[in-house]
Amino acid sequence: MIFRQFNFDGCLSYVAACSNELAGIIIDPSHETEPYFRFVKEEKLKILYVVDTHTHVDHISLAPELADVLGAKTVMYKNTPIQRKIGEDIKDLFGIEKIIAENAAKRVDILINEGDELKTGGLVFRAVSTPGHTRDSMCLISHDRIFTGDTLLIGQCGRTDLPGGSSKHMHNSLFGKLMSLSNDLIVYPAHDYQGNINSSLGYEKIHNVCLNTKRTVEEFDKFLLNLFPPLDAGNCNAG
Ligand SMILES: [Fe+2]
Repeated sequence: MIFRQFNFDGCLSYVAACSNELAGIIIDPSHETEPYFRFVKEEKLKILYVVDTHTHVDHISLAPELADVLGAKTVMYKNTPIQRKIGEDIKDLFGIEKIIAENAAKRVDILINEGDELKTGGLVFRAVSTPGHTRDSMCLISHDRIFTGDTLLIGQCGRTDLPGGSSKHMHNSLFGKLMSLSNDLIVYPAHDYQGNINSSLGYEKIHNVCLNTKRTVEEFDKFLLNLFPPLDAGNCNAG
């Protein structure tokens, strides 16, 4: 696999492509288009899909801008229209209402379902619906790795108190879906502010404060309330 992680102020995004057919995917692009174009050109890649793992509230997606130039399709999970509807009612939330509105106007060519696969040459990316951070949150599993968006971060989970968030949904996504996946999967999240590059699911099951203790939904809800600082203009990011 041809693979590159991009880190813009803690916003993580990825380019992954088949080493044989040079067909690839871009996941959660943000901030600047040039670094992606440069890498794609250097590696002579043919990008087929530009995916957002969810409707972001901390940055503007660059998916359509990249897709237009690269001749790719933009992809999100089928719940995105629901998430965008929820976002329409957000009028004043520390400025993220502007980001929500701008991202809601972004073109989505393909809405995928649970279990759908995006194929790029010999690579397959399988969608797993993991609501909790937003209604349209999903993870993508590809061979030895999982792109967890803002569902599972390194050391914790994404915050659940943003529009479309739900600690009940997050509890089910973590314990009902991710916990049963292989420990060997390499975890690539959409945000990290500690300089981490990746982790493993096995490591997170032991060390991640949101995963390493079995809690009821009610206990988990209380735990998250104490884990995340109250929302304010300075911390509308993932975790
Ligand atoms: Fe997010």
